[in-house]
Amino acid sequence: MAKKQIDADTTRKINAQPRLHQRAREIQEYGTVTHILPLELEEPVRLEMTAQLNQLLADTMTLRDLYKKSHWQVAGPTFYQLHLLYDKHYDEQVELVDAIAERIQLLGGVSIAMAADVAETTQIERPPRGREEVPVQLSRLLDAHQVIIRQSRVLARRASTLGDDGTNDLVVSQVLRTNELQVWFISEHLVNVPLVKAEEPSVATGAA
Ligand SMILES: [Fe+2]
Repeated sequence: MAKKQIDADTTRKINAQPRLHQRAREIQEYGTVTHILPLELEEPVRLEMTAQLNQLLADTMTLRDLYKKSHWQVAGPTFYQLHLLYDKHYDEQVELVDAIAERIQLLGGVSIAMAADVAETTQIERPPRGREEVPVQLSRLLDAHQVIIRQSRVLARRASTLGDDGTNDLVVSQVLRTNELQVWFISEHLVNVPLVKAEEPSVATGAA
């Protein structure tokens, strides 16, 4: 081998330059599942479950972000308690997002991930960029929970019918129960009870 060629080989072996700006074809397209997995769940079942789980994922990511928006933008005399409550619910939704996304991957599918794709997919109404008053924040959160709870019940039943017990368990035990509990905590803030002065009995009953 010529000396020049040997030098070139040596240079290539010890080159510490990272290979930047690389792109290549996808290794798996969104909306597909890998064909054979030892899960005892047929491909059509995994295809249907991953499609429905991706819808649930997009809506859960949107609700998660709606909680952070509310956490930052809340105003008024209940600022402190709502600021903390919104962030607690945000953290719980973060857990759900990861559990749903990883269920899609383990079923052989591809999880939706980026904000732009989530925005195109979610069924939850888009809020304005600006700040809104507390009753509107609370109402938007409840509407979002309602969307997720509705589809959770449908998905859980379908998963059970198709024999996908793991998805049924995830949706009922984690997604549905967490959302139901959060609905309670949020909706109690929309009960119109006096803050300082109790309502007079005569006024309350409408008697003279
Ligand atoms: Fe914060």
